[in-house]
Amino acid sequence: MGKLVLGTAARYAAEPFPSSFCFPSRVLLRYTGRMNSLRDDLQEVLLTEAQIQQRLDELAAQLQRDYAGKDLTLVPLLTGSVLFVADLLRRLPGPLRLDFLGVSSYHGQTSSSGDIHITKALQLNIHDRDVLVVDDILDTGLTLVRVRDLIVALRPRSLKFCVFLEKEIPHHAEARADYVGFRIPDKFVVGYGLDYQERYRNLACVGVLKPEITAKAAVDTRRAG
Ligand code: PRP
Repeated sequence: MGKLVLGTAARYAAEPFPSSFCFPSRVLLRYTGRMNSLRDDLQEVLLTEAQIQQRLDELAAQLQRDYAGKDLTLVPLLTGSVLFVADLLRRLPGPLRLDFLGVSSYHGQTSSSGDIHITKALQLNIHDRDVLVVDDILDTGLTLVRVRDLIVALRPRSLKFCVFLEKEIPHHAEARADYVGFRIPDKFVVGYGLDYQERYRNLACVGVLKPEITAKAAVDTRRAG
């Protein structure tokens, strides 16, 4: 059956679709069955794809207003911000520069380790530039504070932080985001860039994993260790 579906998909991919084209439901079902398997691991969807995309329109409009005429350098933090920044970039038509900073703190667990490593340094010179750091989530705030210290030392003209999610918990006293997509309760969430043990980043929504998924992964990790 897999071959039949692949063959059908290849044929559809080779032919341009008329605007009125619809996949036959049989094919669509087979596809969505495959593509939604990650979603089956969620016990709850906190943010749908539509909610996220609508909020991004608002956020991008605000950024465009605030950075009009400025020399913007976006600094997304790897890896969780990739979907967020890609969707933001598409909505920011003005000139800007982009440089990823690699930062890691969770080390595959469901809570921040507090032990923050720089995994990729900046390549661009950000001295005297308007820098906007983009991250997927503000949790304890340790990452934000560490990154702020690091970037301030490079003497940008201005420095602000834009996060897709902010957990409604007390953060590090000096951690404050200037732009926030959504404020969410204190739950471990995946999707839209956020991972659990490097999976689920490619979900278009944000949700909470079923407890048996994290419990099983913990047992597997113990066995592997
Ligand atoms: C996550 C997330 C934030 C940070 C937030 O990164 O992407 O950068 O933790 O946590 P904090 O506010 O408690 O510091 P992670 O180390 O999981 O790396 P990733 O982006 O590669 O998933």
